[in-house]
Amino acid sequence: MQNDRPSIYTPRSCTLLGVEDLTPQEKLFRLRLDDDSTLAHQPGQFIQVSIPGLTEAPISVANSPTRGPEFELGVRRVGTLTRAMHQLQIGSKLGIRGPFGRPFQLQELRGKQLLLIAGGCGLAPLRSLIQYCQDCPEEFAAVQILYGARSPQDLMFKKDLDNWQKSGSLSCHYTVDNSPADSCYDGETGLITRLIAATKLLPENCCAVVVGPPPMYRPVIEELRHLGLTGTRKIMLSLERQMRCGIGKCGHCAIEHLYCCTDGPIFWLEEIEHLRGAL
Ligand SMILES: Cc1cc2nc3c(=O)[nH]c(=O)nc-3n(C[C@H](O)[C@H](O)[C@H](O)COP(=O)(O)OP(=O)(O)OC[C@H]3O[C@@H](n4cnc5c(N)ncnc54)[C@H](O)[C@@H]3O)c2cc1C
Ligand code: FES
Repeated sequence: MQNDRPSIYTPRSCTLLGVEDLTPQEKLFRLRLDDDSTLAHQPGQFIQVSIPGLTEAPISVANSPTRGPEFELGVRRVGTLTRAMHQLQIGSKLGIRGPFGRPFQLQELRGKQLLLIAGGCGLAPLRSLIQYCQDCPEEFAAVQILYGARSPQDLMFKKDLDNWQKSGSLSCHYTVDNSPADSCYDGETGLITRLIAATKLLPENCCAVVVGPPPMYRPVIEELRHLGLTGTRKIMLSLERQMRCGIGKCGHCAIEHLYCCTDGPIFWLEEIEHLRGAL
């Protein structure tokens, strides 16, 4: 009998359909699988992206599965693969394995007031969940987005931020750590923790989802606890580790007994808080 499930070891070919500048160091890539299948991911999952003959790296899917067969990746230019991706032309071929990893726990988020918090590049994976919330508003009591970037030019997904601010079904606030004196930016400045402190929520029915660079986690968690988000199943976060296989075989992404690639990348705070080096 033929098994139609894609191999977790063999990259599937996909074609680059579009590229958009997000910031000077980040681009948004729009792709489609060459066999016309859908990626069938869930918000929060990642894929292993490769350029034939070069190398492979994990990248989160940046759009919601509710948005159709094409998928999007928000990619920061840092090293071998991502630098090469930033040079690609429309029509180029890439390989992908996956989707992999534990997604955002939608079944635990349904019916809740969501506080979705992103820092820097973390808005890329969170965007997948935000779009899902936009497309299925009846599933959530309320959705508030808080986003922080280093400077106005580092704000990712500016068009989306504008749309989310105008949207009737979500609330969205963003801030930058510093704005140069000659910048025409007239929005909020200051750390994201200031936005959290100003948030009104009912802690009993609220869940926070946090995705950002490691230094953001401890101050954000502290602020959320001040707001009353204590106990279990209150704070969900995404961790990043260097990965190789992406499927729980090589041990590269271990955080004590957990593998970030299969046990995560999305964890409840109480699952990882006590593990050495997790946060
Ligand atoms: C689950 C997951 C999801 C991710 N999603 C995205 C995404 O949506 N967009 C995006 O731009 N990036 C994402 N990343 C990060 C991305 O995989 C790394 O930046 C990757 O190294 C890029 O590959 P490269 O070949 O360009 O860089 P490399 O040549 O491998 O490395 C470049 C530099 O980055 C360092 N580095 C590599 N991986 C990491 C890491 N995880 N944390 C800190 N430093 C690292 C290396 O030590 C080196 O100094 C994700 C990582 C994980 C684990
Ligand atoms: S990347 Fe190989 S075990 Fe996680």
